Amino acid sequence: MRRCLLFVVALVVVSFPLSAQQLAATPPMGWNSWNWFAGKVTDADIRKAADLLVSSGMRDAGYTYVNIDDTWEGKRDTSGVIHTNEKFPDMKALADYVHSKGLKIGIYSSPGPQTCAHYEGSLGHEEQDAKTYADWGIDFLKYDLCSFRNNMKQEHPNDPDAQDRMMRDAYMKMHNAIVKTGRPMVYSLCQYGFDQVWQWGPEVGANLWRTTGDINATYDRMLVLTLAQAGLAKYAAPGHWNDPDMLEVGNGKLTHDENISHMTMWAILASPLIAGNNLTQMSDDVRSILTNRDVIAINQDKLGKQGDRVFAGDQIEIWSRPLSDGSVALAILNVSTARSQMHGLSLHLKDVGFPKGAQAHDVWAGKDLGRIKDTDVMTIPEHGAVLLKLTK
Ligand code: GAL
Repeated sequence: MRRCLLFVVALVVVSFPLSAQQLAATPPMGWNSWNWFAGKVTDADIRKAADLLVSSGMRDAGYTYVNIDDTWEGKRDTSGVIHTNEKFPDMKALADYVHSKGLKIGIYSSPGPQTCAHYEGSLGHEEQDAKTYADWGIDFLKYDLCSFRNNMKQEHPNDPDAQDRMMRDAYMKMHNAIVKTGRPMVYSLCQYGFDQVWQWGPEVGANLWRTTGDINATYDRMLVLTLAQAGLAKYAAPGHWNDPDMLEVGNGKLTHDENISHMTMWAILASPLIAGNNLTQMSDDVRSILTNRDVIAINQDKLGKQGDRVFAGDQIEIWSRPLSDGSVALAILNVSTARSQMHGLSLHLKDVGFPKGAQAHDVWAGKDLGRIKDTDVMTIPEHGAVLLKLTK
């Protein structure tokens, strides 16, 4: 009897690869080539990124996925097998290199005939491609809708519901193809939030799904994407995350305070932390923002509850996130271009479970503030944020 039970347990372990919960128990962390390199990324850039993730301390802070975005794809051979283009001479060797650094490697494709940058997509070759990725040693797939939208429209003109069904089926198809390979791969949906993807993402095996269009390296765009997450908290859970897009911390002209706000909100939102900056020229300031352990600990909190908005004003946004140790993370953002002093504007402590005030720790400053009350004055620089950890 005992033997029989052991056999059944062994069978279950062998036949079910890592579950979604195990694969992305907390929001995936890593680096992706798109935000900095876009279509110019090469094999050498990816190797260098892997080296720098290690030497900068980012890998040890949790950034373990090195993700190649669009433009690695070459042509298919006569058997339909996808090959890399000349920028990526040997994907298996590249994956081996990335793995040798204690990191994981991700890749990108589309359910359509073409990717967004007009390279070869996976339509009609899903199982073949998933197998190729598995043979290369890929650990993460970002699957970007792109040209498949045309297929949806052509096949079902004037029938948006049928188009949506077709989209879901396409995402399911690649999920099944990945499962069939037996290699665990984080499955990242990129279809810009169409058809309320947060409602069906888990059903098609997604570990994360983009909720919006693309980010860019401006405060305004980062804020638009942040505000679009209001109300989505209930759809996130261990294994399945809302993705407001990759980080732009360190890119463009984002100031120190804007980078702080960006990272603060991605922590509150339990967003995947996929950095997108130029690692070869990372300033100490950007590195310390990206690797702040206490902020990452909030992002990676094992309860897996995404934060939500508690207050929206002209100048101030307040968002909170419950944490596994019973504390609450509270983000206060000054979204205006003026230095903001919160005089008499409530911190909303009552609304987040602290009617009698709270013990507060200023996470970015690494400083205990003692007991705070709703009426306490907070000073927040323009486009800056304060991140507090509150306990009774
Ligand atoms: C977009 C996607 C970007 C990037 C790009 C590549 O659709 O949102 O994150 O992957 O395609 O072409």
